[in-house]
Amino acid sequence: MRVFPCIEDLRQRAKHNVPKMFFDYAEAGSYNQETLRANRADFEKLKLRQRILVNVEQRSTATTILGEPVPVPLALGPIGLGGMMHGDGEILACRAAQAMGIPYTLSTMSINSIEDVAAAVDKPFWFQLYVMRDRGFIKELVQRAAAAKCSALMLTVDLQVIGQRHADLRNGLTVPPEFRLKNVIDIMTKPAWALSILKGKRKTFGNLAGHVKDKTNINSLAKWTASQFDPTLNWKDVEWIKSIWPGKLILKGILDVDDAKIAVTTGADAISVSNHGGRQLDGAPSAISMLPRIADAVGSEIEVLMDSGIRTGADMMRALALGARACIVGRSYIYGLGAGGQAGVARAIEILKNELDITMALCGVSRVADIGRDVLASTEEQRRPQ
Ligand SMILES: Cc1cc2nc3c(=O)[nH]c(=O)nc-3n(C[C@H](O)[C@H](O)[C@H](O)COP(=O)(O)O)c2cc1C
Repeated sequence: MRVFPCIEDLRQRAKHNVPKMFFDYAEAGSYNQETLRANRADFEKLKLRQRILVNVEQRSTATTILGEPVPVPLALGPIGLGGMMHGDGEILACRAAQAMGIPYTLSTMSINSIEDVAAAVDKPFWFQLYVMRDRGFIKELVQRAAAAKCSALMLTVDLQVIGQRHADLRNGLTVPPEFRLKNVIDIMTKPAWALSILKGKRKTFGNLAGHVKDKTNINSLAKWTASQFDPTLNWKDVEWIKSIWPGKLILKGILDVDDAKIAVTTGADAISVSNHGGRQLDGAPSAISMLPRIADAVGSEIEVLMDSGIRTGADMMRALALGARACIVGRSYIYGLGAGGQAGVARAIEILKNELDITMALCGVSRVADIGRDVLASTEEQRRPQ
């Protein structure tokens, strides 16, 4: 694999490899993309405290997530249409995660199905659930995840209705892509991508076979989403999901202190502080800015995970400092997937792990458990009350 020193280089390569419609789908935030930008800007505002002359020779990024040991506090998040970044993308990303010893989350809206992935890997993975109106189908999906021995269910709670991403409308996003002149010309310049998709097991939403028609363009996908995704979803449904799911439960998409406190009462095992990577409520605060208040409010009653905006090991350090037990990444690893399939995802994980390791050393910290708010620099801006 070529030399990719950082996630941004993987991103550039993915942009080169993947047809515009799918690369833009991965990049975009909703509406004016204010929250998307805030996710990055607020990470960069948080300055780390440089410490010197501390012996950091014996250090480790290892910890646990949901009681399972991991070499780095990191999980790969759910990505709809992951299999359009690279053929069999979900299988490849899951293999890369498992080879590195970290959790992988398969999306409800994946291209490879739960069963495809389960048959292609040898360890349990996590399954992400979107609750749709057809509760019979949702119950079936949960049972399929249990039958595939998924070790955790991640219930996404911030997408009862979908935030519009303008690029998808402009590009006429379809799954699989339609043979329009513009697309054909684009795809002709991406032969490696086209070959990987042709060789892939599936070309459309694997878990929903029979529930959503092939060649669903974004207008009908938006309509379908509006008709299937359930705006009535509420805390009682979380109870219902908990009653039908035998394993660990993660609630993803918590961005408010009051919601986090309710989440604790559901008996869920973890929450992910997240704004869906800036793809839902535009104008919402960045996830990193809400993390400390949420972590303080829930204490040790529930594991606090965090996603939205993580592109470097220094970002992971900031999230851990502000109360996250572990980080979840989306774009950082799908750039790797688009750049180089399984090897690209492995490289993305390795980059983040190495960067966290060096960041810890330069902050004078040897163990993940020792990362606290004192690793943040006491700059004038950071001293101001939030
Ligand atoms: C292309 C793309 C597709 C996504 N699909 C899903 C999905 O199907 N289910 C879900 O819960 N979250 C989905 N997300 C949100 C991610 O799981 C995660 O919250 C987000 O990517 C984190 O932000 P980051 O990309 O800045 O790391 C998606 C994100 C992206 C970028």
